[in-house]
Amino acid sequence: MKVTLLTGASSGIGEAWADRLAAEKHNLVLVARSENKLKQLCATFSQKYGVSAQYIVADLSQPNADLHIFEETEKRKLTVDCLINNAGIGTAGDFVQLDLASEQAMLYLNITALVSLTHRYLSQMRERNSGTVVNVASMAAFIPAPFMAAYAASKAFVKSFTEALAEENRPFNIRIMLLCPGATETRFFETAKINETEKKALLGQTTIQTPDMVADEAMRGMKGSKTVVVSGFGNRTMAKLTALVPNSLAARFIAKGARATLQKV
Ligand SMILES: NC(=O)c1ccc[n+]([C@@H]2O[C@H](COP(=O)([O-])OP(=O)(O)OC[C@H]3O[C@@H](n4cnc5c(N)ncnc54)[C@H](OP(=O)(O)O)[C@@H]3O)[C@@H](O)[C@H]2O)c1
Repeated sequence: MKVTLLTGASSGIGEAWADRLAAEKHNLVLVARSENKLKQLCATFSQKYGVSAQYIVADLSQPNADLHIFEETEKRKLTVDCLINNAGIGTAGDFVQLDLASEQAMLYLNITALVSLTHRYLSQMRERNSGTVVNVASMAAFIPAPFMAAYAASKAFVKSFTEALAEENRPFNIRIMLLCPGATETRFFETAKINETEKKALLGQTTIQTPDMVADEAMRGMKGSKTVVVSGFGNRTMAKLTALVPNSLAARFIAKGARATLQKV
């Protein structure tokens, strides 16, 4: 059976996206750590939309989680025709004051797990000459972000990696897409331990989207042909502007706005 495998499906953007994929008759494999939530979502989607929805519990910040997921889909005789690497977390603060183990776990989740899952399933797509891979980056992928330094760098990796893979795979009927959401009202900020004051300092006047808005744009993007899909008109404008401003200047501007709140001297 052909399936769409979506990581980070238990909340936020992933949950809203899973709902739309199921509504459009994708059979789903949902991945996250929260088993009860995944079980509940699978029951809802199969009942509401008549699709096959199953889940795999995995902590993608742990080595070999990608192997566990791959072996499970093989055991269940599933063909992953569409892979969506959406799971990701952020951290914020003065880099040297952040917990090193948490930074490493974030980098493993945002980068290594994404690369590993892509390698495993893209290899199969190449054998079949068909498939889709969607990776989720962020507006933070476009510029260095002081006080979210490692997070922004992880998303810059995802952007560069995905844009390169899109070209490598162009001759093989494989669609590779990058989704860049801007600030979105999800558990992201709570998980990153970013309070309201810090959020304001980091985001400035940025418009905050809902997960439903981002999921709608993601679905539209998947039906289009663009490699880089930025969610939201304001974010698209900002993405174009960042190309005109040197990174060093953009970083200085962000640091200026956030330093008083996020740097404890
Ligand atoms: N919200 C924003 O402002 C924003 C902006 C730009 C980009 N993004 C990106 O959008 C993506 C989705 O985030 P979101 O905003 O929807 O946040 P969210 O509501 O916190 O969702 C994150 C998802 O990732 C899963 N996840 C977290 N750690 C995991 C781990 N170690 N192993 C497996 N799954 C894990 C979570 O499930 P469990 O906790 O159940 O494991 C959850 O399903 C992320 O890549 C994020 O970087 C978000």
